[in-house]
Amino acid sequence: MTELKVSVLVDSDWASGSLVDDVRRGLGSHPRRLPPKWLYDDEGSRLFDEITRLPEYYPTEAERAILQAHAADIVTASGASTVVELGSGTSDKTRTLLDAFAAAGRLRRFVPVDVSEQTLRDAADMLHRRYPGLAVEALVGDFTLHLGHLPPNEPDGRRMVAFLGGTIGNLYVEERAAFLGALADSLDPGDSLLLGTDLVKPVDRLVAAYHDSQGVTAQFVRNCLAVLNRELDADFDLDAFSYVPFWDGHMERMDLRLRAESPQRVTIPGAGLDLDLHVGEELRVEISTKFRPDGIRAELAAAGFETVELFTDPAGDFGLTLARLA
Ligand code: SAH
Ligand code: TRP
Repeated sequence: MTELKVSVLVDSDWASGSLVDDVRRGLGSHPRRLPPKWLYDDEGSRLFDEITRLPEYYPTEAERAILQAHAADIVTASGASTVVELGSGTSDKTRTLLDAFAAAGRLRRFVPVDVSEQTLRDAADMLHRRYPGLAVEALVGDFTLHLGHLPPNEPDGRRMVAFLGGTIGNLYVEERAAFLGALADSLDPGDSLLLGTDLVKPVDRLVAAYHDSQGVTAQFVRNCLAVLNRELDADFDLDAFSYVPFWDGHMERMDLRLRAESPQRVTIPGAGLDLDLHVGEELRVEISTKFRPDGIRAELAAAGFETVELFTDPAGDFGLTLARLA
């Protein structure tokens, strides 16, 4: 068996450092917001996995269909011997890609990167068992902070970085530019990026995807308050908040918020913060930007990535772009 290695780049104490900073900065200012990576503790990752199986949440199956149709083309065009996956989660869809690399006999290393430690460890174990010839080097880290820790290219090797699930759409436009720029800096010319992006489509389907009839998404979003209660000793009453997702047609993104249904006094001792929330006051938990093909190509080009091919599923719901660093 080849090696399985898990390196932890984030502070082992989830609450230290950046959670406190993020909470002070985000919840202490107006409009109040929370950075999305705090949605994915063990319970959040479990709920997200449930979301991917909801009938209303089309992105997962649309992206899987694209991978199934084009994995072999992606293997050939990327020429990669290392696949890095950012925000890898369970790496479930990624197996379609890894199967195609394995069939071509050219993949030596897989590097999944995620902040959700247990989910990452479980996925790394599963992949290590499934692909005996593959070295799995998992990184518990933040893709907005730790791109400098990606393993260097092997001699004559190429890397492909997969960033799937539309997760790039959870970043604001200026964060996307900073992220793509940092990624370009950490790669070599000839390395490639495989980027999954949800596409603009009629509002009713978008809203349904983020407001499912079983209430799983509402539970997922509310879970971030449970994270603050646990990690920072806060006293959010989860039942006092309703989930309000809406489509922002100007910014072309879903805007996902929690609204206080009665006046709330919340103390967050771990961050030294008290909040007085009035009725109807909203906390933005996440955005999910939807893209158009020209916009994707332009954002990539601004960071130095040339689009090789932009694949979509037959319904045109989701985009998967293979781009190469010039
Ligand atoms: N790639 C999977 C999972 C998407 S959910 C799919 O396509 O279905 C987003 C994943 O990104 C979660 O596993 C979450 O833990 C991780 N994540 C979110 N913000 C992150 C960050 N800043 N750094 C690293 N991982 C992050
Ligand atoms: N990357 C996913 C997306 O933008 C994350 C996600 C799915 C999500 N459902 C959500 C984030 C509900 C917040 C709320 O589609």
